[in-house]
Amino acid sequence: MSAAPAFVTLQNDQVSLIFSNQGRVPTLLYYGKKLSDTTSAQMLATLSTRQEAKCAPVTEPPVALVPTHGEGFTGAPGLEVFGDTDQWAAGFFLQNIEHNAQQAVFTLSDDTRGLLLTLTVTLDSNTSVATFTSSIKNTGQTAINLSYLNAATLSLPMHFTSIRGFEGRWSNEFQTQDHDLFMGSYVRENRRGKTSHDTFPGLLAYARGTAELHGECMGFHLGASANHRLRAEMMADGRSYVQFGELLLPGEVSLASGQSYTSPVLYAGFAQDGFSALSRQFHEYIRVNILRHSAQSKPRPVHYNTWEGIYFDHDETTLKALADEVAPLGVERFVLDDGWFKGRRHDHAGLGDWTVDEAIYPQGLDSLIDYVTDKGMEFGIWFEPEMVNPDSDLYRAHPEWALQTKNNPHIPFRHQYVLDLTNPDVTDYLFKVIDDVMTAYPKITYIKWDMNRDVNHPGNLAGKPAMHGQMSALYALIDRVRAAHPQLEIESCCSGGGRVDLGILPHTDRFWTSDSNDALDRLYIQRGFSFFFPSEVMGAHVGPRDCHITGRHLPIELRSAVAMFGHMGIEMDPRELTDHEKEVLKTAINLYKENRSLLHSGDLFRMDDDGLNVKFGYVAKDKSKGIFAYNNVKETGRTIPSRFYFAGLNPEQQYRLNRAELGNLKEYSPSILQKTDGEIFSGEALMTFGMQMPVLFPQTSLIYTVEAV
Ligand code: GLA
Repeated sequence: MSAAPAFVTLQNDQVSLIFSNQGRVPTLLYYGKKLSDTTSAQMLATLSTRQEAKCAPVTEPPVALVPTHGEGFTGAPGLEVFGDTDQWAAGFFLQNIEHNAQQAVFTLSDDTRGLLLTLTVTLDSNTSVATFTSSIKNTGQTAINLSYLNAATLSLPMHFTSIRGFEGRWSNEFQTQDHDLFMGSYVRENRRGKTSHDTFPGLLAYARGTAELHGECMGFHLGASANHRLRAEMMADGRSYVQFGELLLPGEVSLASGQSYTSPVLYAGFAQDGFSALSRQFHEYIRVNILRHSAQSKPRPVHYNTWEGIYFDHDETTLKALADEVAPLGVERFVLDDGWFKGRRHDHAGLGDWTVDEAIYPQGLDSLIDYVTDKGMEFGIWFEPEMVNPDSDLYRAHPEWALQTKNNPHIPFRHQYVLDLTNPDVTDYLFKVIDDVMTAYPKITYIKWDMNRDVNHPGNLAGKPAMHGQMSALYALIDRVRAAHPQLEIESCCSGGGRVDLGILPHTDRFWTSDSNDALDRLYIQRGFSFFFPSEVMGAHVGPRDCHITGRHLPIELRSAVAMFGHMGIEMDPRELTDHEKEVLKTAINLYKENRSLLHSGDLFRMDDDGLNVKFGYVAKDKSKGIFAYNNVKETGRTIPSRFYFAGLNPEQQYRLNRAELGNLKEYSPSILQKTDGEIFSGEALMTFGMQMPVLFPQTSLIYTVEAV
C-alpha cells in the first residue's frame, strides 16, 4: 500500500466522522455535526495537540478503535489475547485502508505475532448512525485464545461529561440512570446468557444541559443477545471514551491457524437537538436497514395473547369463547401462548416436547385455528425452543443436550435447563419439531419465540463455554425456520424484555417489551425502550383490570391509552370486561388502527420528565399531522398543572386540535378542554406558548391528534 492517508473522513448530510491514522491504530478524532469545507481534519488534529504532562509518558497512546497493550495503552485494552508466546503484547501497524464517503475498512497486522485486525466502520446514508465492528484473524501457526475484542473504543467529545445508562429487572426494564463521568470507569458486565433485564447494552453520552428537545448527545448500543461488557471511562488526563464488546468466558474463543472472530456490531448515533432527536436517528436507521416490513407494507395487527387470560388452563371450548370475545373488539391476530404442547400443564414439564398435547387437543389444533381464522384473525403460537424441562421426553432421551458444567448442579430457574445449540443434533431436532408444527398447520403465521432463564452453566459437550457459539446458532436456527416458512413473523420474548437488542432484531419482527402490563409502570418502561427502538416493534398489551404483577387496579382508559402507542394488543381474560370497558377498548383499538401508520413511521418527540406526567408525540415526516399523549401520573404540586408544550410541528402551519375521547374523563370542574376541542391553532402557538392542562385525576391520559388545515 502507498502511505496511508493521515485522516479518513466519512460524511453524510448530517454528520462527519474523522479518523486519525497518526497513531498505529486508527482513532476517532471527531464524530458530530457535519463540518463545513472550511474545517480540515488537520486543523482538528493540530487543535488537539497535547503537551507532555508531569510525571507522565512523553506521548500518551491514543484512544484508538482497538487500544492495545502493544501500543502501551493504560486504559482498558480493546483486545485481550494470548498464546504460546507473546501474543498478549500484540501491537498493530496499519496495512491498508479502503474507504469511500460511507465506509472505511482498516486492515492492520502484527506480523511478528501472526495477527490480522480488520476494523469496519459504516456510516448510514440518511441518519447519523454509524456501525463499528472489529475482526481478528490468526495468521500464525499456533492456536491463540481470545479473551476480548471490542467492537470499538470511541473517544468522547470533551464537553460530553454525563452518561445515561439503562437498567432494570424482570417486569421493570429500560429504567434510565444518569451519572456524571468521573475519573475511572462505569462498567456494566452481563453474564446472564441473554441480553438481560438488568444490563441493557446501551448508553448515552451528553453535554451538560442536554434534554429531550435540545442539546448535543450520542447514543451507543451493542447488537449482542448474550454476554456483553460496556465501559465509559474518564482517564486521568481528562480524555474519555466508551468501549463495547462481547464478554467472552475463559477459553470461549480459541482461534486455530487461519480462524477468525468478529465482534458484534456497535451502533452509534449523534444528535444536536436532544435525546428525542437521537432516538429518531436510531428509529429511522432501524426502519430502513433492519426491519423486514414497514408501516406501509403491512400494518401491525392488533394482538390477543392468551397468557394472562388463561395461563396453562388450555381448553378448546374456552379458547373459542375467548376468540368470540376478542374478535368483535377489533383484534386481528390471536396468539396461543404457553401450554399447548405435550405435558405442559404447568411450568414444571414439557419444554422440549413440541407436539400438540393430545390430552387437551385430541383432534389437533385445526379446529381452533380454523375457528380463529374464520373470524378474520391470524393465528400465532408460542415456543421456547432453547429450553428443556428435566421432566420431558427430550431430556429423558438426551440429558447430554443441556448446557452444563461438571460437578456444578444447575441453578434452579423455572424448572428448566438450556439446550446446547452449538450441537448440530440439537438445532436439527429443534428445526424439525418447529417445521413439523408449521407444516401441519400452515395457517400459523406467527411465532412468539421465548427464552426464560439465565444461562448460568454454558458448558458444551467438550466442557468449553458455549455462549458465543450459542448466539450464532440461535440466529441461524431462526433464519432456517423463517426460510422454510417465509410467511412467519417472529417475536423475540425473554421473560418480557430480556432479549431486546439489534443482534436479534434482524432475525425477528417484534419484541415483547415487558411482562408487566401495569400501564403506569409501562409508561416508563416504554419510554426507556423508545430511546433506541421504534414503536412498531414495541409489543404493548392492555392487561387485566387488576394487574397480575403489581396488583394495581387501573382504569381501562389508561390501560388502553398506554398500549396503543406501541404494537397494540390485549392480554387478559376478556370475559371480565364490562360493557363500558369493551366500548373503551373498541374505541382505543380503532384509534390505534387509524393512527398506526403514523405511530409506526412518524417522528417521536418525548417531552422532559417532570415527575408528574409522561408526555410525548409522534409527528408525520411532512408535519401534516401528529398524535400526542399527556399521561397524568401524579397529582399536581400546585393547584393548577402546567402547560403542555407540543413539539415537532411546523410553527407556520395551522392545525386543528382534536381530542380523542376515550371513555370517561373525570374533570374536577369545566376546563379548557371543551374550549380547545376542534379549534385551530398555529404550530407556533402550540409549541411556543403551550396549552394549559386541566386538573385531572392521576392515572388519566389525554390524547390529541393535530391535523394541518
Ligand atoms: C414468559 C413470557 C410471557 C409468557 C410466559 C409463558 O414469561 O414473557 O409472556 O409467554 O413466558 O410461560
